[in-house]
Amino acid sequence: MQERLQKFLARGGVASRRRAEELIAEGRVTVNSACVRELGARVDPARDLVAVDGRLVSPPAAERYYLLYKPPGCVTTLSDPQGRRTAADYLRVGERVFPVGRLDYDAEGAVLFTTDGALAHRLSHPRFGHARTYLVKVKGEPRREQLERLRAGVNLEDGPARALEAALHESAEKNTWIRLAVGEGRFHLVKRLCEAVGLKVQRLFRPEFGGVSVAGLRPGAFRELSPDEVASLRRATLKQGSGSDAVRPRPALPRAARRHGHGPPPAPGDAPPPRPARRPRGPARRRRPRST
Ligand code: URA
Repeated sequence: MQERLQKFLARGGVASRRRAEELIAEGRVTVNSACVRELGARVDPARDLVAVDGRLVSPPAAERYYLLYKPPGCVTTLSDPQGRRTAADYLRVGERVFPVGRLDYDAEGAVLFTTDGALAHRLSHPRFGHARTYLVKVKGEPRREQLERLRAGVNLEDGPARALEAALHESAEKNTWIRLAVGEGRFHLVKRLCEAVGLKVQRLFRPEFGGVSVAGLRPGAFRELSPDEVASLRRATLKQGSGSDAVRPRPALPRAARRHGHGPPPAPGDAPPPRPARRPRGPARRRRPRST
């Protein structure tokens, strides 16, 4: 079905409809390699190749975008050679989807899944480098200088790293939630940053990803993204060289669902995950499974 070129561009996340009209008038838009300056031009998203400044705009209607509130105790991938619970146990959708980045097995919160491999790649690419904000429950109460060191930066085994933001968020009984934002997706980055300044991570929660929030979802639940959310994600990835500021951390962050009464629901037709065996007393074994 045909639609107006400016509407197609707006749906594709290139720009607002008004700005898309300006791009067309400026001669920056081609349809099947021919420059189109007419505002009334129509395109068939299934057949026409539309580009802005030579960059192809993919037809958005064909793609699907989901947000899963990944519960702890599940891997972000859709299959697991070790037979652990996976995101596919929760994300019951018909299409083949890709996760955008990862959360550790024991971490919880927002993970995007999409059929749109190109967008998934752009969102995961270090050049996109948007801020990822986490709420991290740490043991005890962090000292001011520990938060300062997180912001100043520390040396990790794979190079220097720093938090874009590290601040107290909420005090729990014997622990503290801190808000920590990072601008890259190196694996175990948050845990390793915390460890480097002497903070012991008890729980790791990502309330949102790219501005798409799990507020209102229970652990294990998912929802489809709204067209506005998709358009805003696509626009964010088109901002070249926007670095860590491409999407700023949102000030109001939803809380992690409370463990009691709000734990992850069992996957349909499945027994709840077995409780992990108690670790014998003694020095803790250190392992670094792959993550984000
Ligand atoms: N940093 C971590 O340490 N773990 C995650 O799952 C995400 C970021």
